Amino acid sequence: MGDRVKGKVALVTGGADGIGAATARLLAAEGATVAVTDIDGGRAEALAGELGGLGIAHDAGSETDWQRAVAQVRERYGRLDVLVNNAGIGKGVGDIEHQTLDDYHEVMRVCCDSVFIGSKLAIELMRETGGAIVNVSSIHGIRAAAHEAAYSAAKGAVRLLTKSVALHCARQGYPIRANSIHPGYIMTTQMKAWMERSGNYADMHAALVQLHPIGFLGAPDDIANGILFLASDESRFMTGSELVMDGGFTL
Ligand SMILES: NC(=O)c1ccc[n+]([C@@H]2O[C@H](COP(=O)([O-])OP(=O)(O)OC[C@H]3O[C@@H](n4cnc5c(N)ncnc54)[C@H](O)[C@@H]3O)[C@@H](O)[C@H]2O)c1
Repeated sequence: MGDRVKGKVALVTGGADGIGAATARLLAAEGATVAVTDIDGGRAEALAGELGGLGIAHDAGSETDWQRAVAQVRERYGRLDVLVNNAGIGKGVGDIEHQTLDDYHEVMRVCCDSVFIGSKLAIELMRETGGAIVNVSSIHGIRAAAHEAAYSAAKGAVRLLTKSVALHCARQGYPIRANSIHPGYIMTTQMKAWMERSGNYADMHAALVQLHPIGFLGAPDDIANGILFLASDESRFMTGSELVMDGGFTL
């Protein structure tokens, strides 16, 4: 247990599994009170119960869900200091010729609309007291993937949306920072399931490792450590920055 975010109230979207769950655990271990939100409300509540926080069923792409979630945090804690816009989805392999417009819209909704709506509502709460917004983009927000057209578009949008929010807050004199984080391939439950579905887990794993000069794939805690830094006052001179944590993928 540490105190790197002691006394702060944090909200983590998509917090029931993967990078979001690792982040919720780490923020709580470092002294924050954490609202864990997820489309899977049961699992969000289970983790929040473990961490002494608040679990909320929340589709991160829905404005009404956001309004309800932020209202619950305001009612329970009266403040919000850290927003981690982590929820995001891919839609399997989808290049520009094969991905449907429906899939594109759904990926944009969950990966990008979520950041837009969440940031807008968080600023209302943080304007006076200050805060940190951390947006989970991807290496594919920096370098496109031919087989993931919608995901690349959404994660690229998150990257510049973050900078727009950061600039706006700075110009308004709000004590709010916004930064994006760009993970390489991380061994989450979904990632493992995707590799298993490929029919050749070992080959797929080896091929992905090849893309990372460091020689291994990341773990959720690797990214949670970066998010903790961006959420804490240790990064107080950073806003609109991109924290790339990718084992050298984008070099
Ligand atoms: N895993 C990776 O290799 C990797 C790499 C780069 C970026 N990312 C990004 O990191 C973030 C987390 O990824 P992960 O791999 O930990 O995900 P995950 O799939 O392991 O877990 C995501 C969580 O989000 C929840 N979720 C799904 N749709 C949701 C919605 N509409 N609203 C709210 N919650 C929803 C799921 O229930 C799940 O608990 C995503 O934005 C993802 O794009 C992941």
